[in-house]
Amino acid sequence: MGKTSDNNLQRASELRLKINYHNYCYYVLDNPEISDAEYDSLMRELRDLETKYPFLSTPDSPTRRVGAPPIKTFDPVSHQVPMLSLGNAFNRTEVEEWIKRVKSGAGESKVIEFVAEPKLDGCAVELIYQNGVFAGGSTRGDGLTGEDITYNLMTIKDIPLRLRGENIPSYLEVRGEVYMEIEAFLKLNRMQAESEGKLFANPRNAAAGSLRQLNPAITASRALNLLLYDVGKVKGISFTNHLEMLSVLSQLGLRVIEGVSLCRSLSDMFYYYNKLIAERNNLPYEVDGIVFKVNDFDLRKRLGATSREPRWAIAYKFPSQEEVSKILDIDVQVGRTGMLTPVARLEPVKIGGVTVTSATLHNEDMILKKDIRIGDYVFVRRAGDVIPEVVKSIPQRRCGNEKKFQMPSHCPVCGSRVVKLRGEVAYRCSSVSCPAQVESAIKHFSSRGAMDIESLGPKLITQLLKERLIKDAGDLYFLKAEQLSGLERMGEQSAHNLIEAIDKSRSKPLSRIIYALGIRYVGEHIAEVLAKEFGTIDAIMSARVEDMESIYEIGPIVAAAVYQFFQEKKNRILIDKLKRGGVAFSHYKQTEKKLSGKKFVFTGTLSTMNRTDAEAKLRELGGIPSSNVGKETHYLVAGENPGSKLAKAKKLGINII
Ligand code: IVH
Repeated sequence: MGKTSDNNLQRASELRLKINYHNYCYYVLDNPEISDAEYDSLMRELRDLETKYPFLSTPDSPTRRVGAPPIKTFDPVSHQVPMLSLGNAFNRTEVEEWIKRVKSGAGESKVIEFVAEPKLDGCAVELIYQNGVFAGGSTRGDGLTGEDITYNLMTIKDIPLRLRGENIPSYLEVRGEVYMEIEAFLKLNRMQAESEGKLFANPRNAAAGSLRQLNPAITASRALNLLLYDVGKVKGISFTNHLEMLSVLSQLGLRVIEGVSLCRSLSDMFYYYNKLIAERNNLPYEVDGIVFKVNDFDLRKRLGATSREPRWAIAYKFPSQEEVSKILDIDVQVGRTGMLTPVARLEPVKIGGVTVTSATLHNEDMILKKDIRIGDYVFVRRAGDVIPEVVKSIPQRRCGNEKKFQMPSHCPVCGSRVVKLRGEVAYRCSSVSCPAQVESAIKHFSSRGAMDIESLGPKLITQLLKERLIKDAGDLYFLKAEQLSGLERMGEQSAHNLIEAIDKSRSKPLSRIIYALGIRYVGEHIAEVLAKEFGTIDAIMSARVEDMESIYEIGPIVAAAVYQFFQEKKNRILIDKLKRGGVAFSHYKQTEKKLSGKKFVFTGTLSTMNRTDAEAKLRELGGIPSSNVGKETHYLVAGENPGSKLAKAKKLGINII
């Protein structure tokens, strides 16, 4: 063997050791130390080496196995039909190559039917029903042997202990994914941080960790769900294809995967991919890609499988929403209410195609509870348009030079003293004229859900303040095009557009103006309630705390905040300036509100407007947007590719638009 082969041999064994270690962290401890992307790239490198130099391959290489062997504490269970993993495609070409392989394996020119379905990011399990009765369940383990987690599975409400219907098979193995909804995962991590318990990097680790508890009572306390997508060994029943199988399982009272689509062409398949990628952040659970499968079971049999994965299915992964990065420093930002927010400055990392350099740490309490230190490697999550967030640190990767963070005693922007109000976790700058507060207040004022002054972006606001053209939001209404066109990167036309946009905002309804003022605790809905109850800005300004508290939906904290806001001289001056600047403050008009008090839930992609606009429009009409379907929901607006909310609404008999 030459020198290169020696190097390759060494690298391959190094990779195998590394991958085995990370498999152990991921599958056994439910506590990864590297991101999926880093793991995938190690696997890829090893697979490439083994393909190029087959003599490097060993029978126990992690490239040949799925998952990890079962841990000792649960009883082992052999799977009668191996529980395989899936091959991955990371781009279009890899999917096209897979389709070609399927076609040549099929050996006929007939159109092949594929199904596309979400790839759920959870923990694969198998359930066994004997004569319709739940007889036990297990994890996937290494594909051949899993762990007996029967008692833990019995705590999951989605798992019926008895099948329904007439045609009960004598023996049935079903397979699917146990997962945790994103909300439940965030809540669990918050609770874990409170009690200094273990934090989870993502919903998948939280699901796996909750499922593999030795005490089923702990599993029972975690919000777990299950969706099924496959069968193992079956007796007394048969299926000809995937869609039929799902429909039969569903008739037996089992919960099957949602949003499955039949695809007859490549364009159907990529259309599905693009739609789901757009929809993924509206789904209650984490979807990390899609799975394409051959629909027909005969063809599946002919195509067969390798020791690791079937040839009839492939996972087309979405860009990851979480990555690992290093905290270079922690800065403190001052918001519009003077609240200090610690922000992690990160080593640049690409998440979902965007380079992320900072992520919120929420507050000091969270940093302490999550034990996040400067210099730490951390999991960072960026889901859609949501601000990137530091989920947890990876203490195993510390070198000893990490530093604990301390909140500053003085505002980093204006130097005023920082205070912490009783009962609050947040620190605030004590000055009312802190420039950072003024700046974010104006940004909020002009934002979309508020006065919606298009073309007045955050950068321009900073510039206007710096040039002393404005000191507060009221000054916007006295700006002249001539003053603007001299600004850097501002031509005559853009100056004109801005003045026009400001003018348009003068006639915004009262509720929008109240929201735009940025009163603490007054969101869009409460602003609407205030406008409706009091009718005019003057009535709100002179309302007593008791007057407001007597309104349904307004509690003592909100009432006190509104009262306090209008007691402050600078806020009264602002209202006066807005009036003088021509903001209409029109009376609340009851007649306009066609949807008054009606609760709406949106699901799926709307074809004519985005979610934020739809919700703003709804509020203008008096309706109340809400995120969960419940008995009190009046209407569900279902767009394309609706999520699980649609099924729930149907079940509850809610009107669907
Ligand atoms: S089919 C033999 N369908 O992804 C094929 N798997 O990365 C069995 N997964 O082990 C799997 N959603 O745990 C299938 N709709 C879906 C899936 C799915 C998630 C998981 C499953 C599998 C892993 C492979």
